[in-house]
Amino acid sequence: MILRDATSTDWPGIWRVLEPALRAGETYTYPRDIAEDEARTAWMLPAPARVLVAVDNTSGGVLGIAKYLPNHPGAGAHVANASFVVGHDAAGRGVGRALAEAVLAGARADGYRAMQFNAVVETNERAVRLWRSLGFEVLATVPEAFDHPVLGLVGLHIMHRAL
Ligand SMILES: CC(C)(COP(=O)(O)OP(=O)(O)OC[C@H]1O[C@@H](n2cnc3c(N)ncnc32)[C@H](O)[C@@H]1OP(=O)(O)O)[C@@H](O)C(=O)NCCC(=O)NCCS
Repeated sequence: MILRDATSTDWPGIWRVLEPALRAGETYTYPRDIAEDEARTAWMLPAPARVLVAVDNTSGGVLGIAKYLPNHPGAGAHVANASFVVGHDAAGRGVGRALAEAVLAGARADGYRAMQFNAVVETNERAVRLWRSLGFEVLATVPEAFDHPVLGLVGLHIMHRAL
């Protein structure tokens, strides 16, 4: 696997990874019927955001995407926010962990002082376990803030770690 900055030509491969996760609606608050161009605007963000992809080192196919950016502008801009999606075909093989470690290192190098996740679905056990293992803690859980398509109303964790 190679981790590198995303380019505009990566978008078709990124969309193949993103679309099933966004359509499933179990892990992010985007509308489940989000149009491809809206998803592209939401994920292929300009600086100061950074967008990384994990690509297969033989096929070049996109395995996963991550982005990080200031969680708030101005006086809150020293705290980063990040988002991650790994494709179904690549799940459970360490791509998410590698992307997260690259994002943490990149954010630290860019001068961010902490990273905050604003909306981790509490039933997303895979993600919660990964974030905890990387040093994030749950600061609070907003009750019934996420309308899960299968489970109904569940909480959203706010997770945080210093960098
Ligand atoms: C969360 C996500 C990014 C993890 O990516 P991944 O490449 O599958 O994860 P990894 O293979 O790197 O596994 C990392 C950790 O996840 C956890 N994990 C992986 N597979 C798991 C499973 N089947 N059940 C429970 N936990 C699991 C483990 O803690 C694992 O730790 P390990 O490295 O010690 O084994 C991926 O599942 C995903 O894209 N999910 C949909 C979108 C999403 O939820 N994004 C995050 C929103 S907060």
